Amino acid sequence: MLLNHKTALITGAASARGLGKATAKLFAEHGARIAILDLNAEAARTAAADLPGEGHIGLPCDVTSKAQCEAAAQAAIDGFGQIDILINNAGITQPLKLMQIEPENYDAVTDVNLRGTLYMSQALIPHMRARKTGAIVNISSVSAQRGGGIFGGPHYSAAKAGILGLTKAMARELAPDGIRANAVCPGFIATDITEGKLTDEMMQQILSGIPMGRAGVASDVAGCCLFLASDLSAYVTGSEVDVNGGSLIH
Ligand SMILES: NC(=O)c1ccc[n+]([C@@H]2O[C@H](COP(=O)([O-])OP(=O)(O)OC[C@H]3O[C@@H](n4cnc5c(N)ncnc54)[C@H](O)[C@@H]3O)[C@@H](O)[C@H]2O)c1
Repeated sequence: MLLNHKTALITGAASARGLGKATAKLFAEHGARIAILDLNAEAARTAAADLPGEGHIGLPCDVTSKAQCEAAAQAAIDGFGQIDILINNAGITQPLKLMQIEPENYDAVTDVNLRGTLYMSQALIPHMRARKTGAIVNISSVSAQRGGGIFGGPHYSAAKAGILGLTKAMARELAPDGIRANAVCPGFIATDITEGKLTDEMMQQILSGIPMGRAGVASDVAGCCLFLASDLSAYVTGSEVDVNGGSLIH
């Protein structure tokens, strides 16, 4: 049990087959109480009720709204008395080419992925600073490191690359307060984010670029988040950890 007496807030964690839900489940198995945040309140509560153990909560939060991030963070702090871990997982993607990106596409993708990561972190940092402890894990993507080429368009690569820069700057600024910040860069993981949008041909092309020969599964990412959220990684901050089956070795 790596997270006994710990609490974690995970954004975008209501999606049944998603990375956030798998991370919530693994953290709960390791003794943590979890606050699942997602767009739909009922879906967040249902996902929280589905976790092993007692005392988990589900809260509505659109991470693109600073006010909603602050309200949800406060509700989680009030509910648990403390938040030790933040996983900024909420994200959306769109398979567009460079010249197809309209202003509304840019806004939608950068707002959820990048602005949401900033706002939710800002909502919890005063609490973490006051306690002189905290672990923040931001979900980026291999798309940030290799310039897309898997599913998401250039605006997705840019937003996820922004998360890497934000993570490193956060790590530098927050280290004196005992708060660590790290990023995870998943490769292609089978979840609903690409559901129904991948042709067989796209799938074959993706798999041929993965030396391990398989798509990742959500638990592959959850395990990495557990490492970065727990004291196993007590001296790790500002890092970007690849979970990609070898699809980018650099
Ligand atoms: N699946 C992959 O291959 C892959 C690869 C690299 C990175 N990622 C990243 O991992 C994260 C999780 O992706 P997933 O594959 O589990 O996707 P998913 O679609 O299953 O889950 C994403 C969740 O985010 C929620 N969400 C969307 N907009 C939101 C908002 N404004 N506020 C709060 N919640 C919001 C959705 O409701 C959903 O529950 C995302 O940041 C994604 O970009 C995924």
